[in-house]
Amino acid sequence: MTLNPRLSIPGAIYDSHMAAVGVKQLQALNQIMQKQIRDYSPHRLAICGVATGNGLEHTRDVGKVYGIDINPEYLEICRHRFDHMRNITFLLKDMSTDPLEITAIDLVIANLFVEYIDLAVFFDKIGACLKPNGTASIVIQKNPEKTAAISASQFSKPFEALTPIIQERNEFVTRRAAEEHGLIPVNSEYFGLPNGKSLIRIDVNKPR
Ligand SMILES: C[S@@+](CC[C@H](N)C(=O)[O-])C[C@H]1O[C@@H](n2cnc3c(N)ncnc32)[C@H](O)[C@@H]1O
Repeated sequence: MTLNPRLSIPGAIYDSHMAAVGVKQLQALNQIMQKQIRDYSPHRLAICGVATGNGLEHTRDVGKVYGIDINPEYLEICRHRFDHMRNITFLLKDMSTDPLEITAIDLVIANLFVEYIDLAVFFDKIGACLKPNGTASIVIQKNPEKTAAISASQFSKPFEALTPIIQERNEFVTRRAAEEHGLIPVNSEYFGLPNGKSLIRIDVNKPR
């Protein structure tokens, strides 16, 4: 496995950058995740790119939660923060290469994750782990023209290493890739960020 530059960003720097004035993504993603869970009330939930656990407090009433990430330090932070929640299992996986090995999932949440993985690989794995009538709810980031994918903050320097591996996703291409894997787009929603960027939520359903 080639070393993912994401591994070189300490968890504390990651959180500070994502929450910084002008970025505010941590807060926006937290609210979106609360809504994703409220909209589908899943019994079995998988979170791809769980990072340091943003939004996991909203999964208290979910029967089983899988939090997946490639970064062992982020998962250690999650285990420490959510030690009291017995319904969560953290899985250290490179989703580009490792088998997912979870099944019968009602809801997959993948917020700012598909920028790091080939879309065909992602939808292949998601399609296999979802229950019939299950949903994948994906959030991608839309950057205004000529704006860097990594937003500036006083903590953003280490994130520059990610520039070569982040692939900006287009909502139409993302939806089409889902359809090519038998998933049906059911809903889209737009959220503006203070720095002019926006987050786009795309929900796709696995037919019964
Ligand atoms: C921008 S963060 C996700 C933000 C988070 N979902 C939230 O709501 O705050 C992307 C996460 O995906 C993880 N990641 C990147 N590539 C991955 C891969 N191939 N397999 C698993 N996790 C990966 C990173 O370590 C990082 O924690």
